[in-house]
Amino acid sequence: MHSPELNDLFTLLRFASVSTDSKHNADTRAAADWLAAKLNRIGMAAVIHETPGHPVIIAKNKHLEGRRTVLLYGHYDVQPAEPYTEWRTPPFEPTIVGDRIMCRGATDNKGQLMAHVCGLEKTLREEGDLPVNLICLFEGEEEIGSPNLKPFLEAHRDELKCDVVAISDTGMVAAGVGTFTYGLRGIACCEVIARGPSIDLHSGIWGGAVANPATMIARLVSTLHDAEGKVQVPGFYDAVRLLADWERDSWKKLGDTASETLELTGSPELFGEAGYTELEQRWARPTAEVNGIGGGYQGEGSKTVIPREAFAKFSFRLVPDQQPDEILAAVEAHLKVHQPPGIRLEVKLGHTGFPYLMDPFSPFGLAAQRALETTFGGKPALIREGGSIPIVQAFKDVLGVDTLLLGLALPDCQAHAPNENFPIANFEAGMVLNQHLLRELAK
Ligand code: BES
Ligand code: ZN
Repeated sequence: MHSPELNDLFTLLRFASVSTDSKHNADTRAAADWLAAKLNRIGMAAVIHETPGHPVIIAKNKHLEGRRTVLLYGHYDVQPAEPYTEWRTPPFEPTIVGDRIMCRGATDNKGQLMAHVCGLEKTLREEGDLPVNLICLFEGEEEIGSPNLKPFLEAHRDELKCDVVAISDTGMVAAGVGTFTYGLRGIACCEVIARGPSIDLHSGIWGGAVANPATMIARLVSTLHDAEGKVQVPGFYDAVRLLADWERDSWKKLGDTASETLELTGSPELFGEAGYTELEQRWARPTAEVNGIGGGYQGEGSKTVIPREAFAKFSFRLVPDQQPDEILAAVEAHLKVHQPPGIRLEVKLGHTGFPYLMDPFSPFGLAAQRALETTFGGKPALIREGGSIPIVQAFKDVLGVDTLLLGLALPDCQAHAPNENFPIANFEAGMVLNQHLLRELAK
């Protein structure tokens, strides 16, 4: 028998709410319906708002004059679980292995979100009210770049008016070490398609006389970096803000992370932009990544074919003060300059999200740090993260408020990967953190 809190988390985890995949639309919807009903049951009046995509949930306690208003954000959508064969337990059936819950979404973000919801439930049950006016804003499109949430914020600006936002959707530097994240990288995505012959061709009959789209995609990909890993798109680094001195000193205290990264990633060796530490490369430097590349025969054995088309999918991680739209424009121009011969090139621009940086020593930042200290003991680690939460900078732009990122994930929770997991201890600490955080923010 599990605790009632764990049972609730398990129920949410069983919905395969994969936002990017329309065959999971009904599951995503069911997750939103269940979550809204759960919020209503604990005394948070919840409303489901339709969007052109997956719904947004807003839930509030009774708001009283003269109290702080805190907006708690989270996402109930998850990344696809593929490849299924790599999972040791069923991806959408939460399973306890040792002291961890295994399931897609366990850490990103259902476990972290439900820790807060269960923390609210406990306070509401024990004290009849929360110490602040609370707004829960839960969405189902974070993993696809939150395309409908910024317009939603703009349309519900008054209803969402608050003093500060809090999110648990980032990491901890190690088990038991409270971690405050004051910066996130942004993101800009695009896709290139190289189209050659109108049909797949026999590579013996025609090869030599026409361009091979797969070769040409490889040529394009190879223009993105130099041999040392520096991005070659003109202007790419122009707006990059340098690391502050206090950050460099503070990150040094985290020790040598290179060996941990080697171990966790399983890569044979580290490779990154020269002249920067491993942490700087992941947290404070922008990157260009190929997330997918394809074209031609993928089956067993060989097939002598010139594919009619090939593609690559790119994402660029951005840091302050890079502008996602400017980066995409620079990338598009770069790809056109390097347009290989013999193919037609299509560049499809994708979703974007701004990087984020706040002052961790602001009054709300210090309140968050105190809540982490009370929950975990010891001074919290102050870090940036390499991942992106696209809506965070929009909270600043539209609502004018900072976002406190109080992560509960461990480096080996395998977010987005097979065997994603979340320690039960972190789920329980998250409930306690929610209670301390609201108390600190109320002061
Ligand atoms: N929870 C992550 C973001 C994250 C992970 C921040 C680890 C810091 C540390 C979030 O759910 C996520 O995966 N975001 C996507 C956004 C993208 C699809 C627009 C990301 O970073 O790839
Ligand atoms: Zn994610």
